[in-house]
Amino acid sequence: MDPTRAESSTPSRKRSRWENGEDKDIPRQPSPKRVPKPKRPKIPDSKPPPSTQPTQPRRPHPTLSTGRLHSVCVPPRTCHPPILPARSVFTYERLNQIEEGSYGVVFRARDTQTGDIVALKKLKLEEEKHGFPITALREINALMACRHEHVVNIREVVVGETLTQVYIVMDFIEHDLKSLLTVMPNAFLQSEIKTLLLQLLSAVAHCHNNWILHRDLKTSNLLMNNRGRIKVADFGLARRYGDPVGVGGLTQLVVTLWYRAPEILLGATTYSTAVDMWSVGCIFAELVLKQPLFQAKGEIEMISMIFKLLGPLSRDSWPGYYTLPLAKTISLPPSQPPQFRQKFPFIADAGIDLMMRFLTYDPECRITAEEAIRHPYFSESPLPKHPDMFGSFPSVAAGEKRRKPFESPPAPVRAQDYKLVTEFDDI
Ligand SMILES: Nc1ncnc2c1ncn2[C@@H]1O[C@H](COP(=O)(O)OP(=O)(O)OP(=O)(O)O)[C@@H](O)[C@H]1O
Ligand SMILES: [Mg+2]
Repeated sequence: MDPTRAESSTPSRKRSRWENGEDKDIPRQPSPKRVPKPKRPKIPDSKPPPSTQPTQPRRPHPTLSTGRLHSVCVPPRTCHPPILPARSVFTYERLNQIEEGSYGVVFRARDTQTGDIVALKKLKLEEEKHGFPITALREINALMACRHEHVVNIREVVVGETLTQVYIVMDFIEHDLKSLLTVMPNAFLQSEIKTLLLQLLSAVAHCHNNWILHRDLKTSNLLMNNRGRIKVADFGLARRYGDPVGVGGLTQLVVTLWYRAPEILLGATTYSTAVDMWSVGCIFAELVLKQPLFQAKGEIEMISMIFKLLGPLSRDSWPGYYTLPLAKTISLPPSQPPQFRQKFPFIADAGIDLMMRFLTYDPECRITAEEAIRHPYFSESPLPKHPDMFGSFPSVAAGEKRRKPFESPPAPVRAQDYKLVTEFDDI
C-alpha cells in the first residue's frame, strides 16, 4: 500500500465535510428532532341518521373488550428489538485515509466517546441512480450474519449529512496480507502458514455454514493484526446461496481474476462454495511463494496458466466440463503433467496434496473448508505456530514507519586520534 497513493483519491469523487475534517461546528450526537405529529383531517361532527333497520345485538370487539390495543397474534411494539436511528459519522474523528478500493474508501478514525480506533468504509453511493445498492445491503447483511473470531467485526453503520454518505464502522486491523507480503523481508514460515490457513478456513467454514459465499477471497481482503490473527473482510461481493436463483443464474462477474475458479472463467451460472475454496488455494500458494500464483493479464491467459499447473483435463477429472457455456470455445493445450512439485519444491508432500485438493478442476471434488481443517498437513511437523508467537510489523495503515536501528554514537574523529597519538609519542 503506497501511503502517498492512500491519501489521494479519485479526482471526481466528492469529499464529504467529515472527510475534510470539518467537524468542529457540528454537534457530535445531534439529539433527534421532535417531528410534529401530522394533523388528522377533521371529520364532520354529524351523527349518522338513525337506522330504520332493527338493531342487532353487537358482538364485542375481541381486543377492545379486553382493553388490548393490538391483535393477539402480533406482539406489542415493546417486544420488538429497539429501532434506533443510525448515529452520525461526526461521532468519529477522522485520522487518515487507508485505501480507496473499487467499492469504498476506507478511513482510520477515533470514536470520540470511547477513544477506540476504528476503520470506516464509506460506501460509494454518489453514482447510484436506483437507490441504495443491493451489493451494499448484502455487504452489511453478510458481515452481520457471519460474526466470527476471524471475520472483521462490524460495529455499526453511521451516516453523514446526505443520503449518499453511509459508512460501515469496523474494528481497525493493522495490516492486510497483500501489503504485508510486499513489505516483509522473507516469506512466512511453514508453521505460520499453517496457522494463517487454519484461521482462514475456520472463517470460510463459518460463512458457508451460514449460507454465505464470500466470492472475493484474496490477500488484500484478509486483514491481519499484530497478534497473529487473520480477519476476513470486504463482503462487497458476498451473497446468500442455497435459495433458488433467478432466470439468469448467478453472476459471473465475481472474484478478482487471479483468484477466480475455472468454472466461473468458463461461464458457469450455477456455482457454490467451491469457488471460495479455489480462492483459498490461490491464497495458500501466495503465502508460500510470497507473490500471487496466477498473475494473468486476461481470462484466456488465466485459463491457460491453470491448465499448465493442473495438467491434463480428462472426462474423468471433470465430467461437467463439456456442459459449461465456454468449454467449446477453448482449445485444450497439449497434455503435460501437473507442475505442482516444480512450482512448490520446498513444501512437504502433505502440503502439495492439500494444495492440489483446493486447486482441483471439478468443483464437486474440490475439498470443503471443514474437510481441509482436518487435513494431515496441519498435524504433521512443523505444527501450526501459536498466533501470539508471530512477529509484529509497523502498520502502514496507521501511518507507522519501520523503526531505524538504534542510534549508535558517531565514529571518533580520526584527525584528533592521530593528534593524540602524536602527542603521546612526543612525551
Ligand atoms: N477494518 C479494517 N481495518 C484496517 N484496514 C482496512 C479495514 N477494512 C479495509 N481495510 C483496508 O482497506 C482496503 C480496502 O477495503 P475493502 O476491500 O473493504 O474495500 P473495497 O472497495 O471493496 O476494495 P477492493 O475493491 O479493492 O477489494 C483493504 O485492502 C485494507 O487494506
Ligand atoms: Mg477489497
